[in-house]
Parts: sequence; structure tokens; C-alpha cells
Amino acid sequence: MKRLIFATNNKHKVQEVRAALQGHVEVVSLSEAGLEGEIPETANTLQGNALQKAQWVWERTHTDCFADDTGLEVDALGGAPGVYSARYAGEHCSFNDNINKLLHALEGTSNRKADFRTVICLIENGEQHYFEGRVDGQILTERHGTEGFGYDPVFMPDRFAVSFAEMPLDVKNSISHRGLAVAKLKEYLEAQ
Ligand code: IMP
Repeated sequence: MKRLIFATNNKHKVQEVRAALQGHVEVVSLSEAGLEGEIPETANTLQGNALQKAQWVWERTHTDCFADDTGLEVDALGGAPGVYSARYAGEHCSFNDNINKLLHALEGTSNRKADFRTVICLIENGEQHYFEGRVDGQILTERHGTEGFGYDPVFMPDRFAVSFAEMPLDVKNSISHRGLAVAKLKEYLEAQ
């Protein structure tokens, strides 16, 4: 089975992506690969950050690897927080802080349209390949559900009446930004 190092320290993401690629790819976490340290994420695009993270692993291991970068793009905020979604409420802020700031910024706003966009950068034999996934939805006015992570409790995808945090992981994976990007990665790997 093909082995790929996933350049993330986020356990939720490893779990999600491992489930999606089960039986096709052995997804190795950074700690399993013996890699420690803070991966730089200083680009100002999702693609740039995904490349930066994957390159960090490639330079240290010369092993095929991939990284993803995701942004929540809110229509009424001109696409913010976008590439800055993780640190929207400041350095070292929590998921809760980010949600509070977002709900506050959208108070009294009827346009709640938003999307999540993920870009994956795969480095295979030193060559870069990109895969993108996007899901459209709405920002709710309050939190719903306890599953998932990040902005999940306040994001309701189109054609659903529940938030991401109210969905079982396999349902979220089948429609989510990262799920769609990972499906494209899987399709690419299967075609080899
Ligand atoms: P990252 O660049 O993929 O780590 O994502 C940046 C930020 O976007 C994360 O810190 C989360 O706040 C948010 N995010 C990414 N993916 C999801 C998701 O599936 N649900 C909710 N929030 C997410």
C-alpha cells in the first residue's frame, strides 16, 4: 500500500483523512514519522500554505507527503477570515474564540453565505500536485452540535438542515471541502 506522510498536527484531520483513504493509502502522522516542531504557515494563499507545509516534510524526509490548508470564506466579510481562519481571533486563540468573533462580526447581517475551501498539495517524487474541494453553506446565528472541530458548530452546508457539528463523521466527509479534496487525491492515486 502507498505510504504518505500527512503534514498536520491536527488529530481530527488525521482521523478524517485516514478514514477517507482507508484501504488505499497508509496515512502516517507527523509524530509517527518522528517529525517534531512547528510547521511554518506564512503564505497568504491556501495553495501557498499547503505547499509550504508539504515542503517542510519533504525537505526532512524525502518521502511522499501531502498537506492541506483550509479557509472559511464568508461572503459578508469579503472572504475573511479565509487563509487566516485558524488565527482569526488572534495568535493562540481557541476554536471558541474564533466562533465568538465570527458571530459578533455577523450580528444583524442577513447575508450568512459562506464556503469552506481546501487545497491539498501532494509532493510525490519531488513533484507538486494540487487538489481542491469546496462546500457552500451558511453561518448559523448560534452553535449547534458537538462533533468535529473549528467552525463546525456554526456552519450549515447547503441542502442540509444541520450543522457540520451535528453530522456523523462519514456524512461530513462525504460532502465537506476536505472530503472532496481528499476524494480528488484518492482518484489521482488510484489512477496510477
Ligand atoms: P487548516 O489550515 O486546514 O488548519 O484550517 C484552518 C482553520 O480553518 C482551522 O483552524 C479551523 O478553524 C478551520 N477549519 C478547517 N477545516 C475545518 C472543518 O472541517 N470544520 C470547521 N473548521 C475548519
